[in-house]
Amino acid sequence: MLLDRVKPLDAILATAERKSLHRSLGPIQLMLFGIGCIIGTGIFVLTAAGAQKAGPGLMLAFIIAGAVCIVAALCYAEIAAMIPVAGSAYTYSYATMGEFLAWTVGWALVLEYAIAASAVSVGWSGYFTGTILNEFLGIQLPTWLSAGPLALGGVEGGLINLPALVIALLITWLLMIGTKESAVFNSILVAIKITALTAFIVLTLPKAEAANFNPFLPAGIFGGFGTGVGAVGAAATIFFAYVGFDAVSTAAEETKNPQRNVPIGLVGSLLICTIFYILVAAGAIGTLGGQPIMGPNGVPFPAGSEELARQCAMPQYKEALVCSNEALAHVLRNIGFSTIGNALGIAAFLALPSVILILLFGQTRIFFVMARDGLLPEGLSKVHPKWKTPYVVTALTGVVVAVAAAFLPVGQLADIANAGTLYAFMMVAIAVMMLRRRDPNRERKFRTPALWLVGPLTIGGCIFLFLNLPFEAMMVLPIWTIIGFFVYFGYSRRSSHLGQGRVEVHEDEAHDLAPHLPGVDDPNHQH
Ligand code: ALA
Repeated sequence: MLLDRVKPLDAILATAERKSLHRSLGPIQLMLFGIGCIIGTGIFVLTAAGAQKAGPGLMLAFIIAGAVCIVAALCYAEIAAMIPVAGSAYTYSYATMGEFLAWTVGWALVLEYAIAASAVSVGWSGYFTGTILNEFLGIQLPTWLSAGPLALGGVEGGLINLPALVIALLITWLLMIGTKESAVFNSILVAIKITALTAFIVLTLPKAEAANFNPFLPAGIFGGFGTGVGAVGAAATIFFAYVGFDAVSTAAEETKNPQRNVPIGLVGSLLICTIFYILVAAGAIGTLGGQPIMGPNGVPFPAGSEELARQCAMPQYKEALVCSNEALAHVLRNIGFSTIGNALGIAAFLALPSVILILLFGQTRIFFVMARDGLLPEGLSKVHPKWKTPYVVTALTGVVVAVAAAFLPVGQLADIANAGTLYAFMMVAIAVMMLRRRDPNRERKFRTPALWLVGPLTIGGCIFLFLNLPFEAMMVLPIWTIIGFFVYFGYSRRSSHLGQGRVEVHEDEAHDLAPHLPGVDDPNHQH
């Protein structure tokens, strides 16, 4: 009974056909869009948490997480080119595994998009407080206004992260009034991020010292399931640095020659980011050193833990990479490049809000599609008469994102976001394989190469990384899913349009509302 209610693929595709966007995007635009979504808090901030988990093994962590994302991207490419409609993994699952599992995916995507938006807001706050307020304006924001409370993994004396709260609300408001990010604006931000990371690499690598890489794996490769330490524990956290590439897949229907360009866009942007990430990690650790602060039992203190916060307050760890809230700027300042460190801080300050915007945008559109399917109250998908945006769902999502950002630390938020994302990626791989079996003759604009190897690798990789998240973050997914069951059986199952026998073909309002993704110009509006 739970695997019934598979939404007919033809109805979904009819929606896509009605929309029939002009195909204008080439591989470079797709890659720029991808990089715009990918590079953010992961590399600019979580490098510190990654080093606390793995030491120099952080470089290996970037390779492991990048590899899982690349195989997942190949699966996304096939299904996105085939079912190019709003809703991403949720819609794909609805067409293959039925409503109940699609619900669990849509529900888990809340963790991916909304909680990730919170994490990036907290990451931004670190650079805003450190670089803009402290370095430039000489203002020291009191601890109680710049970090969440210790009990929730914040710091001693922390109460609320005000800058993170404000930026999340500001971006919510921009989305509500229908702000869109043009392709040119996105390209400028990508250029700023790439310039900042390139400068970092060029300045640090020549100064790197071999001794700083020794021991290379102070916490081992595998710290044990649920511990969140070791190179794979770091990989599970640093996976966050790649989250967002799946947004590229949603541009598949606007892509010229998707068979060639979608995989180039997805895999190309991931490969470029992976190379940058490894070099940045090498530069940071090679110059400042990145050994974890060890607990009494020889295991690193958990990143984002109370104990670590206490250690970091001690004078001897003032310069430690693993204690910094603005890891990359901190490294440059400490090796004699203060001005460039501050410039990098400004780059992060300018570029991270666009990542928040893309993630929040993704979240509201998934809720919108779920509400349109009747799984969430229809009122949520109400469109503002003037702004033409789903303002109700945007406002609600924004408030939750802002509250989470105000009280929780970046590392924990990222781990929770990763848990949801890994589940969604796994389900996408399963959906691609099921569709190959069930509907082998349907036109596929892109076919995942060696699917029967790549698919299982994606599933295995996602499960493996999930099991290496810290236990608390891991537990959020099942708890969140159980809450989702109550909502589904209490409300959604009864009010589902498909359940009521209504199979609708929509003018795809989800797309028409904001006819293009942030950073991808709407070709139809250019005519
Ligand atoms: N990958 C994005 C970031 O690191 C979410 O900020």
